[in-house]
Amino acid sequence: MAAWAGCAVRREREIDSTNRAARRWAAEGAPHGAVVVAARQTEGRGRRGRSWESAAGLGLWLSVVIRPDIDAARFPLLSFSAALAAADAVERASGVAPRVKWPNDLLIEGRKIAGILLEKEGDAAIVGIGINVRHRAEDFPPELRDTAGSLRMFAKEPVSLDALERHLLAEIERRIDSGDFFSEYAARCATIGAQVRVVEMNGEFSGVAEGVGADGALLVRDEVGALRRVLAGDVSIREARA
Ligand code: BTN
Repeated sequence: MAAWAGCAVRREREIDSTNRAARRWAAEGAPHGAVVVAARQTEGRGRRGRSWESAAGLGLWLSVVIRPDIDAARFPLLSFSAALAAADAVERASGVAPRVKWPNDLLIEGRKIAGILLEKEGDAAIVGIGINVRHRAEDFPPELRDTAGSLRMFAKEPVSLDALERHLLAEIERRIDSGDFFSEYAARCATIGAQVRVVEMNGEFSGVAEGVGADGALLVRDEVGALRRVLAGDVSIREARA
């Protein structure tokens, strides 16, 4: 059982976005570990200005207010802890072990089953996590059907949303209390060691992902042998490591 993660919970049937609600609550003084969870989001938000499909009862849509004991410059690293916590929680609740695609997407057999949206509100970090749980292929909009997945497609038994939420909060607490943002990241990461294509603001290139720096940057050896740091960009896996 978690001690601080989930110490205060707002449970909504429908909301615009749990991240937005958590930000509003954080601005009003929500405690460290406060959680907003919704059965449905009408304006679920993803990274890089994208939207996030959040149909009623099909997934876990949740945001946690974290008031970490770290310098604000290191806040972005919380998204790595959150991805690893989500991967552990998925594995505990479903028996299926997801991989992490840099920086923080969760994949099972190459399909994205979960994503993380980290935002800042004053001195709080808002960690938003969406995990697709009960979708059948036809529950996704056509444009996501080739790339998105849900636990239902891979787990042997139905996955309980309550159990998944409990495991997630316990794992978030464990990882954040440990202060180690990256422990086991390389082992879980599908990107490290793979041939990748990187699309950045001012161009694109291919290479082999060699690791992740202390600041969370993906380190990619490009085709002329230079080691390039990727902090923001779309990285697709072209060829997984053998
Ligand atoms: C991504 O991979 O683009 C991030 C997706 C994050 C989705 C979650 S669902 C709960 C929380 N509320 C939101 O509006 N977004 C995050």
